Amino acid sequence: MNITGIKGMNDILPGEMATWHFLEQQAHRIFQTYGFGEIRVPVVEKTELFCRSIGETTDIVEKEMYTFDDRSGNSLTLRPEGTAPVMRAFIEHKLHNQDSVTKLYYQGPMFRYERPQKGRYRQFHQIGAEVIGVDDPKIDAQVLAMLSHYFSAVGIQDVALHINSLGCKECRPDYRQALIDYLQKHLAGLCGDCQRRYQTNPLRVLDCKVPACREATATAPAMLENLCRVCEDHFSQVKSHLQGLAIPYTVNARMVRGLDYYSKTTFEMVTNSLGSQNAVAAGGRYDGLIADLGGPALPGIGFAIGVERLVLMKNAESLAVRRLPLFLATMGKSAADRAFLLMVSLQNQGLSVEMEYAGKSLKSQMRRAAKFGARYALILGEEELSREVAVLRNMDEGSQQELSLTGIEARLLQICSAEPAGPTAD
Ligand code: HAM
Repeated sequence: MNITGIKGMNDILPGEMATWHFLEQQAHRIFQTYGFGEIRVPVVEKTELFCRSIGETTDIVEKEMYTFDDRSGNSLTLRPEGTAPVMRAFIEHKLHNQDSVTKLYYQGPMFRYERPQKGRYRQFHQIGAEVIGVDDPKIDAQVLAMLSHYFSAVGIQDVALHINSLGCKECRPDYRQALIDYLQKHLAGLCGDCQRRYQTNPLRVLDCKVPACREATATAPAMLENLCRVCEDHFSQVKSHLQGLAIPYTVNARMVRGLDYYSKTTFEMVTNSLGSQNAVAAGGRYDGLIADLGGPALPGIGFAIGVERLVLMKNAESLAVRRLPLFLATMGKSAADRAFLLMVSLQNQGLSVEMEYAGKSLKSQMRRAAKFGARYALILGEEELSREVAVLRNMDEGSQQELSLTGIEARLLQICSAEPAGPTAD
């Protein structure tokens, strides 16, 4: 039996790569414009890092982590997200000594043992960004401005920004208790999962998709109505900065994030085009996380974009398909041998060229050239070879010209490199 890939872990094939590269390149370009520097951290970390940051009672830590012992018996985990590893690296390398504000971005695979479905995988990719050291609400708005800028640069319109505040360690405990009291009275209406977790992680009950739970919590108290003065002021400033920047948003008081490190502002970019996996990007503030991990008491805020979800949304056809500049079509063995040398030499000089090796008919070679989207096809047969010429066909116009084989490399480089290639951005 064939060995197959692992369920929920996808191969990304060459045909999809142009979209991936485009999405990644736009992130590099835009995030660097906003002053972010790229960081790369390992895909494996000590398990304890995720338990302490994401929270012991979250779905991720309770049931979604890929955790194993290495050969020395250390418990390691494939990273389920990027914020905790980046904060671990920030603390370990004392990056706060370099500047009072640190802006980092990252990209790469994350791993969660979730039930795979469209838009939800066990290995998926995130592009994320984090700002450490500023608690001013302006930075919340700036991070959201950068995220919106990214979405418009990659041509995604069908997204809406939902924001909420989850309070801080001053106001959340009282709210949490009020919510537990409420849920206790409505326990019979909750699903099994929520009956189990309402005391350990009551906020998650608000996020449960089971209709009975939604009904039972319809009149539950909301964190937004129970914020302390500091959090309320922070949230109203975030909203007014967003208005100032003309970034549309919806306040969603029921939005609860699946990670415990959040405080104050949280947000999601949601879409209607992906069914139930509707969050394309998400994030928020985590003012206590760095201190909880043993670092300095510095605030932080960031987000992560789900790249697979973006790729699903991005209509691949809307990106200009990468076209091949030149295809070599030959007839006869000596023409094929000569074309082979020409192809390798042109490739060496930076031109993308393909040819047919299998001695197919000219018609079938031209079909293959068209499949590559070739702009030009160079036709070389025994007859042309005897005259030391080749025929260059412009595939878009159907026009042809004869080129002398003497000096043909320079001519082809000049003609074929003049064409634009690759997806167009913005
Ligand atoms: P998250 O909401 O867990 O947040 O994930 C962020 C995004 O990753 C989601 O909105 C979604 O697009 C994508 N995503 C999550 N799980 C999957 C999956 N199983 N398959 C495909 N895509 C998925 C975080 O990870 C936080 N670290 C974000 C953050 C950064 N907060 C502050 N800074």
